Amino acid sequence: MAFIEVRGVTKRYGGIYALNHTSFTVERGEWMAVVGPSGSGKSTLLNILGGLDEPTEGHVLMEGRDLSRLSGPERARFRAEKIGFIFQTYHLVPYLTAVENVMLAQYFHSLADEAEAEDALRCVGLGDRLHHLPSQLSGGEQQRVCIARALINQPALVLADEPTGSLDEVNEAIVMSLFSRMHREGRTVIVVTHDPNIARMAERRIELHHGRLTEVTILAHREEELFDGLLRAVWKAQGASGGASLTTDALPEFNASRATFHLLAAGGWLDLSGGRVALTPKGEQRALNVIRRHRVAERLLYEVFGMDKEILHESAHKIEGILNPQSTDRICTYLNHPRTCPHGDPIPRGACCPN
Ligand SMILES: Nc1ncnc2c1ncn2[C@@H]1O[C@H](COP(=O)(O)OP(=O)(O)OP(=O)(O)O)[C@@H](O)[C@H]1O
Ligand SMILES: [Mg+2]
Ligand SMILES: [Zn+2]
Ligand SMILES: [Zn+2]
Ligand SMILES: [Zn+2]
Repeated sequence: MAFIEVRGVTKRYGGIYALNHTSFTVERGEWMAVVGPSGSGKSTLLNILGGLDEPTEGHVLMEGRDLSRLSGPERARFRAEKIGFIFQTYHLVPYLTAVENVMLAQYFHSLADEAEAEDALRCVGLGDRLHHLPSQLSGGEQQRVCIARALINQPALVLADEPTGSLDEVNEAIVMSLFSRMHREGRTVIVVTHDPNIARMAERRIELHHGRLTEVTILAHREEELFDGLLRAVWKAQGASGGASLTTDALPEFNASRATFHLLAAGGWLDLSGGRVALTPKGEQRALNVIRRHRVAERLLYEVFGMDKEILHESAHKIEGILNPQSTDRICTYLNHPRTCPHGDPIPRGACCPN
């Protein structure tokens, strides 16, 4: 049984679909990022997952229990025991100190214990701010109080909405390391974020557009493969357009994987300014390496293993992942620096190749 199962969840406001028949599952201990443009339904989804809001249609099951079947008090109890919320806005009580705000969350859970609340604040680096009011804390410090408050009850599920939205780099790094600790401790973490650095730390990303799930990007270790494939697609599209710049609309891959394109831009491989997609020199080099690796692998399978032309392409895709630039050059040299793949497409030159 999945830890969380979202089944056909729709949230409608009049004619507007904040969520439109969204379905996915989350396993226990998973760290998932939810990305998508403003207004795409991310906060709505998070609120429904946390039982703060109810879907117009569909169901959310947590450990097999349908949240909408719980009574109001049952749901409040469930939230207090299982879920830690970190909101887009801080939701701290302004007239309570940091430690009192944390104790308040404990109070709803069980008995308030000041020493424990102080420990939680020390854990987020606020040991010297225990008795400050929210108005006496910076935005980053307030966010860290929220995190301490969310973690005090050892929740199985942590839901965070834009936790680094207004933080400087130092606080962002602190918050990120706290998320990675929650994950290591075995909690299930779901973070809504615009921040590509946070999104790529997560194991899995889902992307919302107009309330629809348009992409589920799987597991971080597959990301490199995904990056390679998209850079190759951009390179090919650029070639097909005779080197003219591409609009994002002209590239079907862009619409299917926006979040990943933004990660590629954040990593310096793509330039996405002005509604256009262009490879940076670094991106172009990576795309060329990907293509070279693929075509050299095809040549190897064809010449050395006598493989059929029809299955070469698929087979090369299977083995190219293990080739790095050095091994590619060794194969290239062994094959006497072939200029084309068996289909006649040019192989980009490598460091090993004579001019
Ligand atoms: N209470 C409400 N009444 C009417 N419409 C709403 C309500 N709450 C949200 N919406 C609409 O639902 C859509 C999704 O809103 P939501 O807050 O989930 O977006 P979001 O992805 O979190 O955006 P952001 O990145 O700006 O926080 C938006 O079009 C929003 O205007
Ligand atoms: Mg939001
Ligand atoms: Zn091929
Ligand atoms: Zn080929
Ligand atoms: Zn060579």
